[in-house]
Amino acid sequence: MVGTGKTHLATALGIKACMQGKRVAFYRAAELTNELLEKHEDGEEKKLMGKIEKADLFILDELGYIPFNKKGSQLLFSVISKSYEHQSIIVTSNLEFGRWNEVFGDEHLTAALLDRVIHHGHILSFSGESFRFKEAMGNRKESSDDSYKLTNNGLTS
Ligand SMILES: Nc1ncnc2c1ncn2[C@@H]1O[C@H](COP(=O)(O)OP(=O)(O)OP(=O)(O)O)[C@@H](O)[C@H]1O
Ligand SMILES: [Mg+2]
Repeated sequence: MVGTGKTHLATALGIKACMQGKRVAFYRAAELTNELLEKHEDGEEKKLMGKIEKADLFILDELGYIPFNKKGSQLLFSVISKSYEHQSIIVTSNLEFGRWNEVFGDEHLTAALLDRVIHHGHILSFSGESFRFKEAMGNRKESSDDSYKLTNNGLTS
């Protein structure tokens, strides 16, 4: 569900890890995949993968909003696969596992990826109304209350 605090919690855990002296790598899935694809064209994706590998905690945010092409899926799979073996990883997604195939576009790769992500993992499900929506509605209510008061004052004065 959008706006329910996934990035907020992942960032908070990342900050906490930093405060404990851990190295943290934070990437949005689409941006990382694009960067991997760009680097791959020059044969330099290993450098970026190495940088991520050095972190104690790898946070991959917003998986699911933008589908990847075949090469992008393979590169991201490679990063997650390595990460799962030797570092902590947090993945946030707006899609339930059953729909990850839509992002990676390959059933076998998605199954292998989910197997790794779920193994030893904790799954937190976020539900409810968007904090952004609630905040926006709250602001709207406040401002309309204000304008009512102003109008009201204007009328009574
Ligand atoms: N527990 C909370 N209390 C108050 N505000 C919160 C809380 N969690 C998140 N927020 C705020 O709500 C907004 C949305 O949170 P966040 O970006 O983490 O949502 P999200 O689940 O990652 O959304 P999306 O699916 O669109 O990426 C942010 O402004 C964030 O600071
Ligand atoms: Mg988010």
